[in-house]
Amino acid sequence: MEHDEESTNTSGNRPFNEVLSARASRRKFMTGGLAAAAGSFILPSAASAKNKHDDDDKFQSRWDRDDDHDEDRWDRRDSSIEFEPVTVAQGNGPEPSISEDYEYQVLIPWGTPLRSGIAEYTGDPNTRPTAYEQENMIGIGHDGMHFFPLRHRGRNREGILAINHEFGGNSHILGKDSPESDDDIRLSQAAHGVSMVHIRKRRGRWTVVKDSYFNRRITPNTRVRFSGPVSGYEVIQPESEARGTVNNCASGPTPWDTYLTCEENFNGYFGDSIGAWVPTEEQARYGFSAGGFGYGWEGHSSDRRFDLAEAEISREDNRFGWVVEIDPMRPWLAPVKRTALGRFKHEQATVVVGRGKRVVVYMGDDQRFDYIYKFVSDGNWRAMRARGLSPLDHGKLYVARFNDDGTGDWLELTNEHPALAERFGYGDEGQANVLTYARIAADLLGATPMDRPEWISVAPNQDVFCTLTNNSRRDEPNAANPLAPNNDGHIIRWRDTRNHTGLTFNWDIFVFAQDTHGDGDERTFSDPDGIWIDPNGRLFIQTDGTQQKGLNNQMLVASAYDRGDSQDLDIKRLFTGVTDDEITGITVTPNQRTMFINTQHPGNGEPTATNFPAPTDGVTVPRDCTIVISRKDGGIVGS
Ligand code: FEO
Ligand code: CA
Ligand code: CA
Repeated sequence: MEHDEESTNTSGNRPFNEVLSARASRRKFMTGGLAAAAGSFILPSAASAKNKHDDDDKFQSRWDRDDDHDEDRWDRRDSSIEFEPVTVAQGNGPEPSISEDYEYQVLIPWGTPLRSGIAEYTGDPNTRPTAYEQENMIGIGHDGMHFFPLRHRGRNREGILAINHEFGGNSHILGKDSPESDDDIRLSQAAHGVSMVHIRKRRGRWTVVKDSYFNRRITPNTRVRFSGPVSGYEVIQPESEARGTVNNCASGPTPWDTYLTCEENFNGYFGDSIGAWVPTEEQARYGFSAGGFGYGWEGHSSDRRFDLAEAEISREDNRFGWVVEIDPMRPWLAPVKRTALGRFKHEQATVVVGRGKRVVVYMGDDQRFDYIYKFVSDGNWRAMRARGLSPLDHGKLYVARFNDDGTGDWLELTNEHPALAERFGYGDEGQANVLTYARIAADLLGATPMDRPEWISVAPNQDVFCTLTNNSRRDEPNAANPLAPNNDGHIIRWRDTRNHTGLTFNWDIFVFAQDTHGDGDERTFSDPDGIWIDPNGRLFIQTDGTQQKGLNNQMLVASAYDRGDSQDLDIKRLFTGVTDDEITGITVTPNQRTMFINTQHPGNGEPTATNFPAPTDGVTVPRDCTIVISRKDGGIVGS
């Protein structure tokens, strides 16, 4: 989504573009061990392609990797990308296009009931669901998701799909620009949040298991719990009940099979009901404004949670902007806000297991000139859980500084640092303030402002990739660096020392999107956003923004091991969406034969642009939906 427009970072930290401009070329970094490792990257031969009927047992969970990584073992895996790509000419209509080697199915559009007795909403422009109906059906703004197989059943044919509902404007959800009643506000709220939906494949098609014990809606009104270093402190006003999650953008699974959902542009749900609110320095840094994004939730007659005029007492503003953990297998448990991971506009939380079986969580803060973070748990995740501790409650939070010479440093956000103690106070309460105002703490430490960090994914060889979607406000063009302004975005890659747990890293640029745009270039893409690397090293890139040559937003596949120049990136287009949508969210069944992605805000909600997933009629309200992708020959998706 494009609610990330204005920078609120006035720290004056050296922008990332300047750091880039100090660098002569993409090829010179990745020093030391990483450069040596690069020599060992071997792309498997095409002869071994497809492996159509691999036994499921051969699938190895990414959590099962060795602590000290066996790179050769992973490099031997088949990472071929052989499908016939969607051409530029095919990729610009009101319907999706997919490679001729693939097929797709629409699943769980906005309005799909999760329970019997709830009528499906199919896009009739003259009606909308009631708030009660919406609380029992799939929400809008499909975004990050994860497929949790039900292990006692066919794990590739049945599971719980956890899916985020990032946002939907009132005109789309309500059919009018502003809510006119408390019921309207409740409907708008119910379309947000998260869905847990039990799905299974029968006779070749995926369907919802209605009334399943696992089906669940989590909305801005669901009771939630705070945990970790901030819980219990005044900065989140711990005495009153905490409720809800909003603007759930990307996500990440944990090794213990829970779902992390990330609160991104939470600021936009708040507004000022009395016209006298003056933002604090902290509220300004997090982008709160009197009008918000126009949801009008502050106008609820009895629920003042989203009214900034009340925030000084309720501290509701500080209760959003967190990573929230949900257990899909235990629907009776309240979602938990994991405060050790810091408060910012969380795009994604990507978990890997690092040295000593500590969990490491990589996270981006998607706003112009904001930062990349990582969290490292204090100990072995299994041992911590065995002691009743969440590995996500006990650990250190760091922010990234990218140095000119291709190295980088992880700077710890701790009030043991004098500047942070002075700003936020000492002791545990001071640290609670540091985490709640992580952006300001990162400003003080000299973190590197980035071009809107979106998704992060980790390759089998431990390289970490982050999409930097764009930054048109870069106004310092430089002959050595084509990215000012950075209209099309790029993807940065780094590798941490000590198997993700070290305090330093080496980095380079994987691709500048604009380098794929030349005349007749079929590889063109802009605004990379969603990203995922499969266990074989295939890198899936999803876009959100205006594409070249009239293309709709799209999903492409490259190799995470590519070390050529940006201009030479070997990349193929697997899928294109519909007019004015965004392609986001990506997860697969364990055997990688089924992939789930989303088209978000098709037509920006306008029936005149597209009516997808309904046939084109110019009238039906377009609905966000999940797209199930498979190879016609049953092979691994991406091959
Ligand atoms: Fe939710 Fe930055 O995309
Ligand atoms: Ca985006
Ligand atoms: Ca995004």
